[in-house]
Amino acid sequence: MKGLIIYKGKYGATRDYATLLSKELNLPAFTPTVIGGELMNADFVLIGSSVYVGKLQLQSWLIRNQEWLKTKKLFFFIVCGTPAGDKEKTDKIIADNIPPSLRNNSIFFLKGRMIRHTLSWTDRLLLKMGAWLTRDPEEKKRMQQDFDGVEVASLRPLLHALKLWDLEKRQALLHVNY
Ligand SMILES: Cc1cc2nc3c(=O)[nH]c(=O)nc-3n(C[C@H](O)[C@H](O)[C@H](O)COP(=O)(O)O)c2cc1C
Repeated sequence: MKGLIIYKGKYGATRDYATLLSKELNLPAFTPTVIGGELMNADFVLIGSSVYVGKLQLQSWLIRNQEWLKTKKLFFFIVCGTPAGDKEKTDKIIADNIPPSLRNNSIFFLKGRMIRHTLSWTDRLLLKMGAWLTRDPEEKKRMQQDFDGVEVASLRPLLHALKLWDLEKRQALLHVNY
């Protein structure tokens, strides 16, 4: 099965996960600006994006490319501050960003990284405003503290799902050829 990785982030967390996946799976990784005809030949695509103020960095790219993408098996990895277990918030991120035609795929939430002194002043301001406006005390705390959750172990569920899918595809092919 031929696959590739497409990712977009801002400060490196999504790129770091894309690099880890690229090494682990021996797949090429691209940003949307440099991707060419490779997408056409891929059987599966790993799509990574971080989240800023509820919006995926790849939101408009997904909308523009959904006709292509819906012919592929997709594995999304969404890199953000929201914990993977916070279903209400993760469901909202999916509903607000991933076109319905692409939602019937595997979607994983990965803890990202936020180091405030590396952010642009506009992003620091957005965070301050966000923390001021939010009522949820946990979320408020999260917005005011640095965190770095980027680690290879977080990729385990995604790698497992990919292996299972690959196995099922191979078995189906064996069946057809038998
Ligand atoms: C201004 C700003 C807004 C953010 N908004 C959200 C958000 O709405 N939801 C969320 O889960 N994480 C949010 N985050 C956290 C980022 O998604 C997280 O830091 C991510 O790891 C960034 O990855 P990147 O370096 O690849 O862009 C925000 C971070 C910043 C700086």
